[in-house]
Amino acid sequence: MASPQEKNKAHGGKTPHRGTDAKHTVMITGASSGFGTHLAKAFASAGYNLVANARDEAKLATLKSALEKSRDSKFVGVIADIRSAEGLEEIKAALAKQNVDVLINNAGVNPELQGHNAMSEVSDIQNVIHTNLSSVIALCTSAYEYFSARGGGTIININSVAGLKGNYHEAVYSASKFGLRGFSEAVKDEWLKRGVRMIDVYSGAIATGMSSHRADVAGLIDPSELAEFLVGLCKTESLFVRELNVQKTGNRL
Ligand SMILES: NC(=O)c1ccc[n+]([C@@H]2O[C@H](COP(=O)([O-])OP(=O)(O)OC[C@H]3O[C@@H](n4cnc5c(N)ncnc54)[C@H](OP(=O)(O)O)[C@@H]3O)[C@@H](O)[C@H]2O)c1
Repeated sequence: MASPQEKNKAHGGKTPHRGTDAKHTVMITGASSGFGTHLAKAFASAGYNLVANARDEAKLATLKSALEKSRDSKFVGVIADIRSAEGLEEIKAALAKQNVDVLINNAGVNPELQGHNAMSEVSDIQNVIHTNLSSVIALCTSAYEYFSARGGGTIININSVAGLKGNYHEAVYSASKFGLRGFSEAVKDEWLKRGVRMIDVYSGAIATGMSSHRADVAGLIDPSELAEFLVGLCKTESLFVRELNVQKTGNRL
């Protein structure tokens, strides 16, 4: 079997852990709005090059111009629907082409929060499971193949406290996030043996995106603070945090 070094040669001789002067690259799914834009800004501020995925081309263009005005980081947009086979192929190709070091699975949907009803149409249920679970498993697997061949890399899954404790008003969303937790638990230790670190983030309500309609939004987790915290987790090389259970100081989950 080829050593990681031999495999790195096959990948253009690039190693995952670069010198401190070289820029690292993060890929963020669902970067066009909500927590994804906060992640993009935090990683750009820390000097990372960005590969930003979402379906909305106009919103990605706005993010690109906002970041390029103030930073010298490279920005590559990947306009793709993570539910489609073509979209997943485009993202997979971009992992290698852009020499990505960190993949953040952030894209997600939670239509129950708007309707507050258990979803009864199978197509609605499938959409949530497809976006939040099946596609994320496929992205994790693509990243694992790419990272393990080059000697290492980091995957961050933006899960939710709904992946630890089911919520009645978002039952399908909870099921999707529980599923991702199960997948991660199953592969994490094996993947670590090949230098692939998977960090699961079980966050309480964040003051952005899906929770922006809440009356108490001002008292929720600050998205910029959490994004900066996740940047810090990517800097460690000799240790990693397997999972984070994040809640607002002074609040219940
Ligand atoms: N906000 C919270 O309170 C909270 C709490 C815990 C966990 N989370 C998790 O944090 C993540 C982000 O949530 P958010 O609140 O920021 O939501 P949001 O504002 O609704 O943003 C979701 C992002 O996902 C993208 N997206 C959705 N479906 C997609 C698809 N099929 N293909 C590609 N991109 C897709 C959207 O972009 P396009 O529409 O442009 O494709 C958008 O950029 C989610 O995984 C969520 O479960 C959120």
